[in-house]
Amino acid sequence: METIKVNVKDVLQTVTGEQIQALNPEAAAALEKLHKGTGLGSDFLGWVNLPSETPESLVADIEAVAKDLREKCEFVVAIGIGGSYLGAKAVIEALSDSFSSLRDKGDARRCNVLFAGQNIGEDYLNELQDLLKDKNFGIVVISKSGTTTEPAIAFRLLKEQLEKQVGKAEAAKRIVAITDEKRGALRQLATEEGYKTFVIADNVGGRFSVLTPVGLLPIAVAGFDIRKLLAGACHMEAATKEANDENPSFLYATTRNALYRAGKKIEIMVNYNPKLHYFGEWWKQLYGESEGKDGKGIYPASVDNSTDLHSMGQWIQDGERTIFETVLSVEKADKTTVIPSDEANLDGLNYLAGKRVDEVNKMAELGTRLAHVDGKVPNLRVTIPALKEEYLGELIYFFEKACGISGYLLDVNPFNQPGVEAYKKNMFALLEKPGYEAETAAIKSRI
Ligand code: PA5
Repeated sequence: METIKVNVKDVLQTVTGEQIQALNPEAAAALEKLHKGTGLGSDFLGWVNLPSETPESLVADIEAVAKDLREKCEFVVAIGIGGSYLGAKAVIEALSDSFSSLRDKGDARRCNVLFAGQNIGEDYLNELQDLLKDKNFGIVVISKSGTTTEPAIAFRLLKEQLEKQVGKAEAAKRIVAITDEKRGALRQLATEEGYKTFVIADNVGGRFSVLTPVGLLPIAVAGFDIRKLLAGACHMEAATKEANDENPSFLYATTRNALYRAGKKIEIMVNYNPKLHYFGEWWKQLYGESEGKDGKGIYPASVDNSTDLHSMGQWIQDGERTIFETVLSVEKADKTTVIPSDEANLDGLNYLAGKRVDEVNKMAELGTRLAHVDGKVPNLRVTIPALKEEYLGELIYFFEKACGISGYLLDVNPFNQPGVEAYKKNMFALLEKPGYEAETAAIKSRI
């Protein structure tokens, strides 16, 4: 069966197989903590069995709501930030036509999902509102806490606009809220206004929530098959249960932690397919927020090659040797484009005539790997058969499981994010939010 694979051969000049395997007992203990719920942050392990335990009725409900929104709305704005944004964005980008936003209305390749609330850019919001002013649109507002400022601002603006455009009653039929079952301003607002809602379970943290309605609804609205996504995740759930190197999450976690202990403090997620840009962003949040605490953690970075070989390539080849790379390699391109022969051959490219563009891309990937290994950059490789729902589902669960193991190997709580509060406290103090009077006085004295 085709499935994702992990290859660690090209790290062995930096850490030996024995050094990696020396972490197996610790990693086995970490895996057991995830399965038995005995480790730090064990209140947030709802994602571990989520793929196999997602009820059919929930999938059918998400599909029905997505169908209804697709029929009613030319565009659906998914509002959310962090874990309430990046998973859906990553999967939709990976599966969509690269130029979907420029396709004509009615073209099946056009993606109808737009995003907001992932920034506080005034121009972004203004331009989005301008685009939507004569459009039939709907909103999926996502916030687990129901109190996050960025999505709350976007929702206030777009809700008001939708109500003006279609009336309050119709707007209520086009708004879906995904939030906590009981707590938070969004839950209260959704109940008051009578919106359709989906619940984010208490035991699933934001960055582990892409396989809940948080990711599944926007992905289904964009027209992709969430059953296949879940089936892929289910397959990986089964493949990552044992504490041995056949378990890809286990092998990835032990290898990257052996590299970290050998002084490789930065991991660069590398892709050779522009559709994976946001997958890198999702992965950075997953690992950055889960591991970066208590003065520890591998710094997660990402590059899109071959584009970034012409900007970051020099540093990676030749800069400070504190990095390792994890290359996310897609085995098969979906479309076929062959380089034509040219009689005059003025550009000297006839040596490539008849080759597929993907063949050239693969040689860029192989050539880069060999060069970087020569440059003492350990290379891990994660191979995915194709950009299809089932493999993306596998990949998501694979990285989540490895993240849990890695966090416990570092002896941190992988499921909290206390550091995210510091900027919020300052921002609220600066904006004079009620309840922050003392912080406002303190911060004003600093500036
Ligand atoms: O992983 C996390 O928990 C965070 O990144 C959250 O997803 C992010 O802060 C958004 O939070 P919320 O969904 O509560 O608006």
